Amino acid sequence: MGGRVTPSGTPPSVRKRVAVLGSTGSIGRNVLAVAAAHPDAFEIVSLSAFRNVDLLAEQAARFGVGKVAVGEGTPQGSFPDGVEIGRGRASLEALASDPGVDLVVNALVGAAGLAPTLAAVEAGRTLALANKESLVMAGELVSRAAESSGAALVPIDSEHSSLFRCLKGVPRSELAGVVLTASGGPLRDLPTSEIASAGVEAVLDHPTWDMGEKVTVDSATLVNKAMEVVEARWLFDLPFERIEVVLHRESIVHSLVRLTDGTLLAHLGLPDMKVPIQYAMFHPDPPGGIFEDCRPGALGSLHFEPVDFGRYPCYDLVLDAARQGGTSPVIAATADEVAVAAFVDGRIRFGEIADVIAGALAAVAAGDAPDVDAVLAAEETAREAAGQIVGRLSGALSQ
Ligand SMILES: NC(=O)c1ccc[n+]([C@@H]2O[C@H](COP(=O)([O-])OP(=O)(O)OC[C@H]3O[C@@H](n4cnc5c(N)ncnc54)[C@H](OP(=O)(O)O)[C@@H]3O)[C@@H](O)[C@H]2O)c1
Repeated sequence: MGGRVTPSGTPPSVRKRVAVLGSTGSIGRNVLAVAAAHPDAFEIVSLSAFRNVDLLAEQAARFGVGKVAVGEGTPQGSFPDGVEIGRGRASLEALASDPGVDLVVNALVGAAGLAPTLAAVEAGRTLALANKESLVMAGELVSRAAESSGAALVPIDSEHSSLFRCLKGVPRSELAGVVLTASGGPLRDLPTSEIASAGVEAVLDHPTWDMGEKVTVDSATLVNKAMEVVEARWLFDLPFERIEVVLHRESIVHSLVRLTDGTLLAHLGLPDMKVPIQYAMFHPDPPGGIFEDCRPGALGSLHFEPVDFGRYPCYDLVLDAARQGGTSPVIAATADEVAVAAFVDGRIRFGEIADVIAGALAAVAAGDAPDVDAVLAAEETAREAAGQIVGRLSGALSQ
């Protein structure tokens, strides 16, 4: 970036101008920590939250941002004078396509991330993507939009970030497939008979990663891994059959690349989301060095086992829906979002998350997903259907 001169002859900002969507979340806070560690590399120009306006106002003051977005109906926060405050989906889309931004980080959770992802790629912005739901719900639309605008899509998810790095320099003709590692989630050692009634506290206690609530519950059901398979399908243009999942309890090897000569490439690192976040934020430049070296002697033993998919009924539900295509993955992802919120609120049992996803897939007729309107319409219908199923299940639970 350093030597670039704009057509008007004005030297551009040397720092990357960054919009952080979902800055109050687990990924968003790590993004700001990386930016704070590299004040010469990044200028945070806009931020967003849904409800947590107090933290958002504090972040806006700390980073001196000019624009923020919050949810519709969120109470007025005490933002510094002059900060422009937008509300709702349109304001997120505006931040994502802002011409004054070089890099958009999408750290939103759930279906709310889809419209800003599309806005960013359609506007040709570089997009550092944590919101995997965007690719699950509309991977084809996002890929097509990025191809036509030339937008760069850089993954933040640790498995995909490591594949992104390993695949550099691997000719397509030598690529046999990829392997995503799975920690097995918080319930990996619970007897199968106890999984369905696991409590919220146990489910939110992840053994290796410190993450937001939804992705932690999704790790326990393995919906997260099914979504990551779909994410890999679209990011790396691979058929589902060439994407495998292996259980790796230590979360040190983030993924493996299978080569046609029968060998594997692996990427190893400590489980700290700031590493892939930093890599995505610096892309295509080399990342800065704010981490200690990862020494093999400190990593301990590494183990790989097949996943017992029988313990995780949601995995096949979500992946089968993705294989089916059209609006099926929209229905599955939306139902999962509704079910996870209901589980965390104590309205349904853990084992009923699968019932909500299966019920919504059975209740809502899937169709084609030629454009974002079709995707959003399917999301609305699925949200309503899943809400009704949750209503019935929670009525039974309270009796
Ligand atoms: N956390 C991780 O380590 C991790 C790792 C890999 C991938 N990911 C992926 O990264 C994404 C974010 O995960 P996270 O764990 O950071 O989530 P999180 O902690 O729940 O944060 C979500 C962010 O999105 C905002 N938000 C929530 N609902 C919204 C809505 N309806 N409209 C607009 N904004 C909304 C939240 O605002 P409020 O704070 O105001 O609610 C918050 O800023 C997910 O797709 C997840 O799968 C996360």
